[in-house]
Amino acid sequence: MSSNEINRQFRLAARPKGMVKESDLSYGESPVPIAGPGEVLIRTRYVSLDPSMRGQMENRADYVAPLQIGDVMRAGAAGEVIESNNPRFPIGTLVSGSFGMQDWCVSDGNNIPLRTFPPDIDPVTALGVLGGTGMTAYFGLLEIGQPRVGDVVVLSGAAGATGSIAGQIAKLKGCFVIGIAGSAEKCRWLIDDLGFDAAINYKAQNVGEELDRLCPNGINIYFDNVGGEILDTCLARIAMNARVVICGGISRYNTTGPIPGPRNYFNLVYRRARMEGFIVIDYARRFGEASREMKEWIDAGLIKHQATVVDGLRNLPKTLVQLFEGVNTGKLMVRVD
Ligand SMILES: NC(=O)c1ccc[n+]([C@@H]2O[C@H](COP(=O)([O-])OP(=O)(O)OC[C@H]3O[C@@H](n4cnc5c(N)ncnc54)[C@H](OP(=O)(O)O)[C@@H]3O)[C@@H](O)[C@H]2O)c1
Repeated sequence: MSSNEINRQFRLAARPKGMVKESDLSYGESPVPIAGPGEVLIRTRYVSLDPSMRGQMENRADYVAPLQIGDVMRAGAAGEVIESNNPRFPIGTLVSGSFGMQDWCVSDGNNIPLRTFPPDIDPVTALGVLGGTGMTAYFGLLEIGQPRVGDVVVLSGAAGATGSIAGQIAKLKGCFVIGIAGSAEKCRWLIDDLGFDAAINYKAQNVGEELDRLCPNGINIYFDNVGGEILDTCLARIAMNARVVICGGISRYNTTGPIPGPRNYFNLVYRRARMEGFIVIDYARRFGEASREMKEWIDAGLIKHQATVVDGLRNLPKTLVQLFEGVNTGKLMVRVD
């Protein structure tokens, strides 16, 4: 590390009102932190953009503590150990963890838990399909969805990081897979490149009419990433004993005021169905086993993954806004220059 290095950082400047704005984050510079006893100094190479970051900007405790104004913006990232006072993580070790929107951070491996990855896995893969969103797809679909051969599986947010992987796992399990996504190009990608059976462009097509045409006998698994109207449309079409996997609800993350509940939830009773949410970190002990299986599928060409990578740490706020505008196909991340 050269002596003129600085730590560029984005901090929470304001709690978003409605749609998150670039000005909700403020840029600053500070000295590079010093690794104390038992600690390592990590240089960030890639920063992940995740919908949950919007919730953490609010003053609301849910499954993680809210950020305070002035805190470094929390973000998943991948990087490299540059200095080490910890034999578990020698210099050069590649690591991922919640390093935040900044060039440098220090960790003793516990205050910011570190996952290591080998040099033959690129950081984009480590953060994406073998990282949080890949694990979310894996456990959400397999543990909560419990797919069976012949099931009709419908996924919203299907061309995003989580949906694109969950849909391919459903194909591997012998399901008929329908993706819902926000452009014709994303729908083409789902069918032509990822092998989905069908896709619906929710911005241009009537989702209910398309589902009635594509799966007249109903939906066995609905993997929900968006909530809102699309959740309601799918609830109206669940089959007997369906599983509704509540993974996320991005359509609600930037709204203000009370959010209407699903109107069609009573179909869960008529169809003896189950609707269940989950948080991926509850499966952390099994990430090793799941990423090994995922890697086997990738190596065998059974799972494809893609990332939208934006260059430059200074573009982090703009890219966070664009996540909610659907800029990404697959995983969205920023490469730190
Ligand atoms: N339960 C868990 O543990 C867990 C863990 C990770 C993520 N999640 C959730 O999983 C979901 C997907 O996360 P991800 O990281 O994979 O993000 P992502 O799907 O890669 O990116 C977000 C996508 O959502 C779509 N979108 C944005 N606003 C929308 C709206 N109002 N209505 C419908 N679609 C909208 C956009 O695609 P279009 O072009 O298709 O609109 C955008 O590309 C999120 O809800 C997230 O909170 C849950």
